[in-house]
Amino acid sequence: MPHPLLEKLGVASDPRLGPASDAGPGRVVSDNPSAGEPIASIRLDSAADLERETAAAVESFHAWRAVPAPVRGQVVRAIGEELRRLREPLGELVALEVGKIRAEGIGEVQETIDIADFAVGLSRQLPGQVIPSERPEHRMMEQWLPLGPIGVITAFNFPNAVWGWNAMLAAICGDTVLWKPSLLAPLTAIATNAIADRVATEMGHPGVFRLVIGTDDEVGERLIADKRLPLISATGSCRMGRHVAQVVAGRLGKTLLELGGNNACIVEPDADLDLALRGIVFGAIGTAGQRCTTTRRLYLHESIAGDFTKKLVAAVESAAIGDALAEGTLVGPLITQGSVDQFESAVKVAQQQGGELLCGGTRVAGKPGNHVHPAVVRAPSFDLPIAKDETFAPLLYVFTYTDLEDAIAENNAVDQGLSSALFAGSIRASERFLNPSGAGSDCGLAYVNLGTSGAEIGGAFGGEKDTGGGRESGSDSWKAYMRRQTCTINFGTQFHFAQGISFG
Ligand code: UN1
Repeated sequence: MPHPLLEKLGVASDPRLGPASDAGPGRVVSDNPSAGEPIASIRLDSAADLERETAAAVESFHAWRAVPAPVRGQVVRAIGEELRRLREPLGELVALEVGKIRAEGIGEVQETIDIADFAVGLSRQLPGQVIPSERPEHRMMEQWLPLGPIGVITAFNFPNAVWGWNAMLAAICGDTVLWKPSLLAPLTAIATNAIADRVATEMGHPGVFRLVIGTDDEVGERLIADKRLPLISATGSCRMGRHVAQVVAGRLGKTLLELGGNNACIVEPDADLDLALRGIVFGAIGTAGQRCTTTRRLYLHESIAGDFTKKLVAAVESAAIGDALAEGTLVGPLITQGSVDQFESAVKVAQQQGGELLCGGTRVAGKPGNHVHPAVVRAPSFDLPIAKDETFAPLLYVFTYTDLEDAIAENNAVDQGLSSALFAGSIRASERFLNPSGAGSDCGLAYVNLGTSGAEIGGAFGGEKDTGGGRESGSDSWKAYMRRQTCTINFGTQFHFAQGISFG
């Protein structure tokens, strides 16, 4: 029997799906990490399947780009409406499959609905500039044109919204989407893609949204190397992103990379400490620490560090750990047993390096699934090498500082550059953190009196340095999905050379 959520989402009879017991070669099993039990098995796509889908994505692109952008926007609007209708079961499927709590699963689908709304408005804009020509009776302007079929590679932790950021924008830009989801979240991908494809097909536009579920060796490597895909948008580890960047650069394609984070939060003595506590606890243990925007490092001013740390530990210890779909749970499971092992080993290394474990740090005993007790580790000084690594788990390192400039320097002293936050009452501290000279936070996202996670879709999302430099979602991120053409028109009868050159 397929899971009832798959029935509700209308994908129970998807030909890829099979019973969990059907786990032979060429299939992958999706597990419920809250219970450590399989949900279903899924047929993997082969290199031949990828070839067929890529060729079809090119063909669909030729039809889709000819549809006027505002009409493309109407298709995205209908997809957003359908997601509104299915927000709860789809959010619950996210929670079931990747273990984020129900409220966050539903919030993730809301994020896709929000970007769909944003894309609909944008479908009536996509603005180019008109630029004065230096020549008489000439016009110069730029226009933005559809780019092609876009390869989208997503991670397990945002199995719906990160596709949404890419697919909703790509669609209004006139591109088709070929999506390779994480093998840890194939059911969410099947349901999400089916919803978008069903709506678009009913409106007369089949094949805009396509899905390939396969291994990196069989499908991933071929996908990134394929010249027919002018842009590869990839979310995942820095190691994965470095490889994707090299392969795609080797064929002079474009990448949009959304890689690891190691995000810090600084608390000044004049901050609203209750507010800070809420933002920090959510940032550190929300989504069981498995967001790229998770708060990993906390810098507390020495005058408040003692009391604040006590309150923090009490709040972390009181957060209910359990089944992602159970009422009242605040911390769901990690995605795999391997993640639990990595969590426990990072805690051990932190202790060997002089860190003091203040709470948690172990797996939850006697419970099925991949549950852990969130850990808070007090660092002996700024020198705690393990804190430079991204451990995808609820593990927070706490440091103490005297001077804000030192805390900002520490914020910046990691390879990644995604998100950063400052809690402060004074405008001076805030402006130093956001210093227009660039001497403040070096991250793509900088928050004042908010935590490091939970970005809205309206801003450009992404980070610097090893985070990969890509920007997705709001602002002018849509430009990555189009090609710019500078158009110069001579409406006179004379030939004028630029730069005043005379020739013959
Ligand atoms: C991610 O973890 O890959 O800002 C994305 C946030 C979310 C997106 C996280 N809106 O935390």
